[in-house]
Amino acid sequence: MTLTVSDDEASKIERLARDAGALALSHFRTLATVSVESKGHLDLVTAADQEVEAFITKRLIRDFPDDGVFGEEGAAHQGTSGRTWVIDPIDGTFNFVRGGDQWAISIGLYQGGRPSFGVIHAPVRDQTLVGGDGVPATLNGVPMAARAGLDENRAACGVGFHPVIPVAQRLHTLQFVLEDARMSFRCCGSATISLIEVALGQVDGYLGTGESTWDLMAALPILEQIGIVSTVDWSAIELNAKIRFACGTPEFLEAVAPIVPFGATL
Ligand code: IPD
Ligand code: CA
Ligand code: CA
Repeated sequence: MTLTVSDDEASKIERLARDAGALALSHFRTLATVSVESKGHLDLVTAADQEVEAFITKRLIRDFPDDGVFGEEGAAHQGTSGRTWVIDPIDGTFNFVRGGDQWAISIGLYQGGRPSFGVIHAPVRDQTLVGGDGVPATLNGVPMAARAGLDENRAACGVGFHPVIPVAQRLHTLQFVLEDARMSFRCCGSATISLIEVALGQVDGYLGTGESTWDLMAALPILEQIGIVSTVDWSAIELNAKIRFACGTPEFLEAVAPIVPFGATL
């Protein structure tokens, strides 16, 4: 079993993410007519999420018939190759529904028990990131710079909480970030967009609580290519797990280790 994707596979997935983005955008431009349902309090799903996931799944099965597919909206196709494509068709659905630009398509490859390659595409922001094992990280085709360090005068931490996370737990995290780590925080409502902010050096790292594997599967291998590390112990994680993790420059991980050490669980 090879642990890398070929150039041809990488560009196929990039094209797929862009096509899926165009489909999502067509719904975004006619938002008033998109049906919205609730999965839980402040946890939304739209017809666009379901249509985009079905579109991506169909193409993956056509182009990669031996691979598995696992998606947030129910895609579950068993493969034979040992590789599984993990999809979040729209990460940041709440923002999508409210007409915001902070949402993205995420397609990651789970191979050898960990994320190994990913493409994320944020259509309104026109940002497409690609990277993983043997595939250097690029943003819109341009190589990305490596990230390191933590300047305490401008330290910033992205944070994300799934809607089911209790208020006390959220406050505990924010208190640590503000008082102990003495960092500023940013919360945009899409793990993928927050991780793009890490990749671009707009924040030093991200603390996610209650995230799913499809929120991270594409972004982490891209970030790994530019020196960004995470606390997720993939040897202890199943694809349907809920995760608490930190990801950022090594210096950021050291600063948040008291609250999210390597292998922390929810
Ligand atoms: C959510 C967003 C949010 C994160 C939640 C996710 P969705 O994804 O990524 O930032 O904190 O845990 O569920 O529902 O928009 O795909
Ligand atoms: Ca998500
Ligand atoms: Ca989603």
